[in-house]
Amino acid sequence: MKLYEAYAEELAESIRQGVLKPGDRLPSVRHASASRGVSPSTVFEAYYLLEARGIIRARERSGYFVLASASKRLPEPGIQADASNESLPVDVSALVFDILESAKERDVVPFGSAFPSPLLFPLPRLARSMASTVVAMDPWSSVDDITPGNANLRRQIALRYLADGMHVHTDDIVIVNGALEGLNLSLHVLTKPGDAVIIESPAFYGALQALESHGLRGIEVPVHAREGIDMAALQSAIERHRPKACWLMTNFQNPVGSVMPDSKKQAIVELLAAHDIPLIEDDVYGELYFGTRRPLPAKAFDKTGIVLHSSSFSKCLSPGYRVGWTVGGRYTQALARLKTTRSLSTSAPAQAALADYLSKGGYDKHLRQLRHALAAQQAAMLDAVSRHFPKGTRASRPDGGYFLWVELAGGVDALELHRRALSLGISVAPGPMFSAQRTFRHFIRLNYGHPWTERSEAAVATLGRLIESLRSESSEPGKK
Ligand SMILES: Cc1ncc(COP(=O)(O)O)c(C=O)c1O
Repeated sequence: MKLYEAYAEELAESIRQGVLKPGDRLPSVRHASASRGVSPSTVFEAYYLLEARGIIRARERSGYFVLASASKRLPEPGIQADASNESLPVDVSALVFDILESAKERDVVPFGSAFPSPLLFPLPRLARSMASTVVAMDPWSSVDDITPGNANLRRQIALRYLADGMHVHTDDIVIVNGALEGLNLSLHVLTKPGDAVIIESPAFYGALQALESHGLRGIEVPVHAREGIDMAALQSAIERHRPKACWLMTNFQNPVGSVMPDSKKQAIVELLAAHDIPLIEDDVYGELYFGTRRPLPAKAFDKTGIVLHSSSFSKCLSPGYRVGWTVGGRYTQALARLKTTRSLSTSAPAQAALADYLSKGGYDKHLRQLRHALAAQQAAMLDAVSRHFPKGTRASRPDGGYFLWVELAGGVDALELHRRALSLGISVAPGPMFSAQRTFRHFIRLNYGHPWTERSEAAVATLGRLIESLRSESSEPGKK
């Protein structure tokens, strides 16, 4: 952790605990630098970081002040209690395809999108890595780099885990076509049609589609906005259904944004190990944290090899390169064999380009910039939502990633809001996309992964007006 990050975190904690209150002035840069024995630029960096996170703001010639919105927050959505804890067939794909297709147009405001803006990625720099590696490519690499994948890339990935305090063996890593392939392969290795699998409620719709296409039954277990899956419900689902696998997002859960504390990750791994149930861990957002360190994956607590951990470069660097990986634990060989029969290998030039990019340095600097941009965009979106959406709205405030999970006030129907917003050129991701039972009818997921502009502000205002009008329509006599 850098010095300025540690100082920023300390100040953020003082604000969270109410030691520093909204409107309070922060120590002057000169004073803070003298009293802490750090350089003025360290203090400036810390203040810039907190400003980007929407916690403090500079006032001309007066210094930095704690913002009112830092404590006057929208309440967070509560847990959705109607996850039935039954094992049910999954039928969501048609709805998901319809919604994703409708939001593809470039001129639509992409609040419903699953990706951050490509403008936030160092694509020209990657293209240079691609060009130079392809020109210099050993003709045998297309053979060498077939599954489990490019040895240098797997080493670079293992090194990144090592830097975060997690030991991953290079031989345990299988390169795949994006995390989605790794997750699907994991499901295939572990289950057969008709089996039951524990999933989150709400869940990433890709997980629901995977279950649906493999003919599996989903047991939905509720997720809390801050700390992830409900432990008591998880335990009871395991005992009742004897599932063949459990598919979870431990960090910056999509769509809710929760991060499980380390103690919970450890408890889940131990619970599953005791029942011999493998964990399919989706950790594609782990690098997009706004705090001072990467939250550990559940894989870090895996002593028996039951965690199949997947991630990728899609959310941080290059969605189009389609390069991800799975750390397969005891299932690594089965996974690599299945990958070989399905698609033989991930593109050798794409693997080599990413290996080159990672080994030349610069990725961490890019990630720092990306995290700062996302944190600032989250603050702008939350601020706009709190001003334009009706009273009673609830919104998550995740410590990373690029989604807000919003509970609409007044029982407004999210699918109807999606239809009307789209006709005005704004996409949102309606809650029923994230549930096997198509619940979450009063929720939407909003993407803040795009630079904040006047158009974004106007789109939030339009959504606010649409919600108001849907609310008054549904409260008219004769309508429900
Ligand atoms: C939660 C989650 N998991 C996995 C994926 C797929 O990632 P990739 O592009 O690496 O296949 C996505 C992409 O939208 C996602 O949101």
